[in-house]
Amino acid sequence: MDRIVIRGGLPLAGTIPIAGAKNAALPLMAASLLTDEPLVLANLPDLADIRTMADLLAQHGVAVTPRASGEGLPPHVLELSARRITSTTAPYDLVRRMRASFLVLGPLLARCGEARVSLPGGDEIGVRPVDLHIKGLQRLGAEVELSGGYIEARAPQGLRGAEIAFPSVSVGATEHMLMAAALADGETLLVNAAREPEITDLATCLVAMGAQIDGIGTDRLTVRGVGRLHGARHTVISDRIETGTYVMAVAAAGGEVQLGGARLDHIEAVARVLENADIRMHETDGGLLVRRSTGRIDGVDVMTEPYPGFPTDLQAQVMALMTIADGAAMITETIFENRFMHVPELMRLGANINVQGPSALVRGVKRLTGAPVMATDLRASVSLVIAGLIAEGETLISGVHHLDRGYERLEEKLAACGARIERVRGGA
Ligand code: EPZ
Repeated sequence: MDRIVIRGGLPLAGTIPIAGAKNAALPLMAASLLTDEPLVLANLPDLADIRTMADLLAQHGVAVTPRASGEGLPPHVLELSARRITSTTAPYDLVRRMRASFLVLGPLLARCGEARVSLPGGDEIGVRPVDLHIKGLQRLGAEVELSGGYIEARAPQGLRGAEIAFPSVSVGATEHMLMAAALADGETLLVNAAREPEITDLATCLVAMGAQIDGIGTDRLTVRGVGRLHGARHTVISDRIETGTYVMAVAAAGGEVQLGGARLDHIEAVARVLENADIRMHETDGGLLVRRSTGRIDGVDVMTEPYPGFPTDLQAQVMALMTIADGAAMITETIFENRFMHVPELMRLGANINVQGPSALVRGVKRLTGAPVMATDLRASVSLVIAGLIAEGETLISGVHHLDRGYERLEEKLAACGARIERVRGGA
């Protein structure tokens, strides 16, 4: 198992290129199942989760071919061609490895009239049920059964458009219903839909494939089903969570960094919080410039919410920043019930954090001190990297395979900006 070693205390300076968004790329890849023509996706991040989704699609019969990105085009281009679907089963092994695999259920069902997909189960951050996905597909006319840990869905006459009012906001269920409804017979109205930029990106790609979708970017999406979708070429948006993570890293370590390709309009809630903490961000031609403008950081309260609120995927990172703030910060997690696994690890570095139910009261301390810590999930692990950048002495992070699921070349990107960070291959 690889580990990451950081010797903290240096400010960051330079440029960090922001990759394509993992959480946009995964549903976009699943959308390739909706058409027998090639879907070409550019600006895919080079991550373990993308390879897992490619493996899953390949076992459904999708031809996955890397393409040269060409001059002036974003890197990492894959052509996904689902000309013939050879299997409508998504096995436990792959779905367990990555929950987003569950998103193949709707497209397979819409295209083939049947699908058998393993139920994902919970993970480190919560129970994570998929009831909204299943109820939505049932509203579209699917017969759904649970058998041997698998969801077996059938729609022999095809799916039918319907109104689906989500009782709570779900990114995955919104994406799932958008894809399934694109090939349903008639009109589907999604009420209380999630509005994350990743959903807008998926809807934009589906429209390029011939889908008819109104209300993109709002919480009411109307999809008029079409008989077939065609191929398209689409460039994945830049990763707002990777962007926000490096914003926190610069805010924590100090310095000035240009985030290449980053979009301020996708992290406005983050910018508002950080402005109160006296961190400055400016849009530039190439992306976003982040600077810690004064020596100190003010404590700011943060509550996670669906977009456009503060993202749960940046909660651990803002907490790492707040450990050294002047004063206190109350951080409240409203999306997942078990997303404070980083707290005991941050406390090993000297943070003062008190968790009460869904809230963590972080009282800023003068300094953190390096120690061995354990990464527990993707965002928790990167919060330990941020803490390591500010801690005095050496921080040794184990469990970095979590990081590799969502951060492309993290240690290289930070080292290029002056951080003393390296990966130690192998070991316990
Ligand atoms: C997406 O997960 C992201 N994953 C998550 O990113 C992100 O944390 C989350 O959205 C919230 O922004 C991908 O896009 C691949 P949800 P998703 O459905 O779609 C409950 C990361 O670190 N719920 O919006 O699974 C659920 O338990 C990750 O990159 C139900 O109750 O999230 C949660 O409490 C992790 N029933 C809340 O809704 C359902 O059927 C929001 O979940 C579905 C969800």
